[in-house]
Parts: sequence; structure tokens; C-alpha cells
Amino acid sequence: MKKRFLPIALAALLVLGLAACSNTETPATDAPETGGTEVVEPTGNAAKPLVWFNRQPSNSSTGELDMAALSFNEDTYYVGFDANQGAELQGQMVKEYIEGHIDGLDRNGDGIIGYVLAIGDIGHNDSVARTRGVRSALGTAVEVDGEVVSDPVGINTDGSATAVQDGSITVDGTEYIIRELASQEMKNSSGATWDAATAGNNIGTWTASFGDQIDVVVSNNDGMGMSMFNAWSKDAGVPTFGYDANSDAVAAIAEGYGGTISQHADVQAYLTLRVLRNALDGVDIDTGIGTADDAGNVLTDDVYVYVPEERSYYALNVAVTAENYEDFLDSTVTYAPVSNQLSEDTHPVKNVWLNIYNASDNFLSATYQPLLQKYDDLLNLNVEYIGGDGQTESNITNRLGNPDQYDAFAINMVKTDNAASYTAILAQ
Ligand code: BGC
Ligand code: CA
Repeated sequence: MKKRFLPIALAALLVLGLAACSNTETPATDAPETGGTEVVEPTGNAAKPLVWFNRQPSNSSTGELDMAALSFNEDTYYVGFDANQGAELQGQMVKEYIEGHIDGLDRNGDGIIGYVLAIGDIGHNDSVARTRGVRSALGTAVEVDGEVVSDPVGINTDGSATAVQDGSITVDGTEYIIRELASQEMKNSSGATWDAATAGNNIGTWTASFGDQIDVVVSNNDGMGMSMFNAWSKDAGVPTFGYDANSDAVAAIAEGYGGTISQHADVQAYLTLRVLRNALDGVDIDTGIGTADDAGNVLTDDVYVYVPEERSYYALNVAVTAENYEDFLDSTVTYAPVSNQLSEDTHPVKNVWLNIYNASDNFLSATYQPLLQKYDDLLNLNVEYIGGDGQTESNITNRLGNPDQYDAFAINMVKTDNAASYTAILAQ
């Protein structure tokens, strides 16, 4: 019945005992070599392949990685994207747009290029990175203890906020001030973050009181960015920048959306299922990733990096602007170099439980899941997709009532701190 009992490798498994009793009080879990500590080998569901994706197990206040969750067993990985590289690209993209389109950009002619910023989730490390990247590129960043402050400022039309400062930019000999006029976490009243509807309402509030000061709109993602664009900036002719390269956002570039960043969801979705496939096949984890598999699937290092000490795969980002958007119009096309069908003889069908933290998250539902659904066929995985409400972990974990039915698990937590809510179930 159970396909896998005892994996052979031992080193990583010390962690198990600790992870099983979970929680934040768990002492340092960097597995010691062999300290005379009792080696607990996982069995049953605790030994099955597990991949975290899109929300990296980490402390939502400090960003510190939750290594207990990331090394839950020897077949545990995280798949995401390089947040800092992407954040830098997003900031750069906005800055270059301002420099290249300065004529008429300052709508009220006050010498200030004012922007507003929609923040996704103040406790999500990718969101934090994007806020920092934009502030750093535009000169509005303030550092405390060597780190750029990523807190929302609320309203800052007078430039007095302490979480940001006024930046400046000189184009064709003219100097402009750059000011973050307002920023806010877009969380709805039930607690869902990255909330597009909230962003759409908010731009209405902002524009009603200081609309003529807003020259640029920036968002931590396209879901919120498009909501603001449709509610206001498209008609107002104000460039709006997002992140994710969802199909609707890319199409909107033809109508004045300023640009977005592709986080290479086509590579991430592949890696999410591929690491499970490899573990289930009992082959080297690099198979079909850095090393071609028997069907010819392989990735090159210009699209991802693997950081072994974080047990994490990170896809690399690409800026999508008026220059190249036509190549990105469909965000649900699989990445050609890894689109070859595996043979069912050598890679028999396996059952995977996979959840999406919020069924109405634009990126995950419009881009990531459709890609997963294509790759699951190519990789012979029978995936059960569970859509959460974006608010509580229990809404999802309640539907992990029978883990015995599955061969592997792919998890997208509501909150990055909550890995133990899942591993506790698997460790039972
Ligand atoms: C995406 C956001 C999404 C979030 C959810 C990010 O990587 O850019 O659009 O809402 O993940 O965790
Ligand atoms: Ca202005």
C-alpha cells in the first residue's frame, strides 16, 4: 500500500523529531552531524515528498527562514522566485519609465513626481522585497539598521512620513522630487491580503483627496495593479506598474499599463511538481532540472537557481514592458524546454495533494494553477487542487483529512509562519 517506507539517507532526518513537535519554541534545528542524538526516521506521511511553494516558510516579522519546515524530511523543498532580483528589476523598470517619459508626467506641474504604492502583505517576504526595491530605485528608501524600511506610510502627501523620504531625479537637466504620496497594505476586512478589490477601492479614496498629485501608480502585484488601473489610472492616463505578468496585465500594456515583472511562473510551476516527481521516482533531485531527463526536459541556469542550504529553488525574473510584452501575452503557456511528456511506464501515475492559499488570488488562480494543470499531465501526476479562502489555514488543513491517500504534498500556506499547521498533520 505505502510506496515509501524508510528512505535510506539519514543525515537530514534528525530534524524530523523536532519538526514533529513543531512550533516556534523549537530550538535550532540546523541538524548537527551526529551528536549522539537519537536518529528518528520518518515513516508514513512524514516520509512523503513535500514541496512548499509561493510562500516560503519563514518568520513574517523578521523574514528568517523556517529551516525546520524546509527540511521536514529529505524530500522537502521550496519553490519560489528570486525576490531580490525581481524587486530590483521592478524598481529599475519604474525609474527608467519616469526618465524616459518625463514630458507631461508631472501632471500638476509642481515639480514632484508623486507615486502611490499598493502593498500586498506586510508579512510576506516577497511583498517586503518589492516595496524595498521600488523605494531603493526611486530614492525614497530609508534605512534602519542597514535594512530598507518596508512599512506602509498611510498618507504622505506633505512628505513628512518617516518610513520614506523624498527622492530626486534629474532628467534633461531638470530636477524633480520623487515622493511616495501614499502606501497601504491591501488587506480586506476578513483578513485576506494582496486583495485586489481593496486596492481598487483605495485608489478611489486616494484620488478623491489628492488625485492631481498622483503621477505614477505602483503595486506589489498585478492583481492589485490591474484593479487600480481599471478603476482609475487607465482613464486618467497614469502609468501603473505591477508584478507577475498575468495575461490581463500584459495585455493592458497596450493600453497604458506601465509594465510588470514575470517571475517565470512557467518555470516555478514545473519545478513545484518536478521535485515531487523526482522524489517519487527515487532519482537524483536534479533530474529534468539541471540534468536532462529521459524525455529531454532540462532547464538552463538563466531561468533558475538552487540554493542547497535553503533547500530552495528560485526562478529568475524578467521585466515585461512596452518593448517586449508581445512575447508574454499568454502567461499559461508551459516553458518549452520542459514541456516533454514523461513515459507512464517509467514514471507511473502518482497522487498529489496541492493547495492554493486563496482561490481568488489573481496570480495563483490565473497564472500558476493553469500551468500546474498542464505540467501535472506531462509529469503523470494526478493532482487534487484545493483552493483556500486566503484567511485561515484551517480552511485548507480541514481538507487534508486523509493524507494517506496521497503520495506527495504541495503546500501554499496562508501565512508564511504556519508551516507547522501542515507538518503536524503529516507527522501524525
Ligand atoms: C505574487 C502575488 C501573490 C502572492 C501570493 C506572489 O508571488 O506575486 O501576486 O498574491 O504571491 O502569495
Ligand atoms: Ca506632480
